Amino acid sequence: MYIAVIHGPNLNLLGTREPEQYGSMTLDGINQALRGIAKEMGVELSTFQSNGEGELVSHIQQEGAKASGILINPGAYTHTSVAIRDALLAVDKPTVEVHLSNTSAREEFRRRSLIADIVVGRIMGLGAHSYQLGLQGLVQHLQETGT
Ligand code: DQA
Repeated sequence: MYIAVIHGPNLNLLGTREPEQYGSMTLDGINQALRGIAKEMGVELSTFQSNGEGELVSHIQQEGAKASGILINPGAYTHTSVAIRDALLAVDKPTVEVHLSNTSAREEFRRRSLIADIVVGRIMGLGAHSYQLGLQGLVQHLQETGT
């Protein structure tokens, strides 16, 4: 089983970016924790971050297509990107959406996710744990469905 972990714009700044909103763990720290969990579960993992919508779309097309499932935090593109939604639909892999913050408890424009209705599940508001729970949930889903 192979999971593609994808982080969207500004998540490279985690650790220093609005720590009251996103916590103090760096993106490297989050990726390392995910690698540890993946190893325990015997799952292969790749991690990728980009600030560019097109690069994220290309990565979903290339790497997402090879993966058993996708774990994605599209960052601000969650609320705006039809292109990322379309790329996920194109590769058609079970996907879990994660957010560090509880986007439903923030500004109105963050309440809408353009991928909410095409993902297996969504985890938000638990900081870096959102990713860890998302990975565990995705792997369990793939095991249960045999995909
Ligand atoms: C975020 C929430 C988005 O609204 C925001 O633009 C981000 C991070 C989160 O993980 O909480 O960049 O996806």
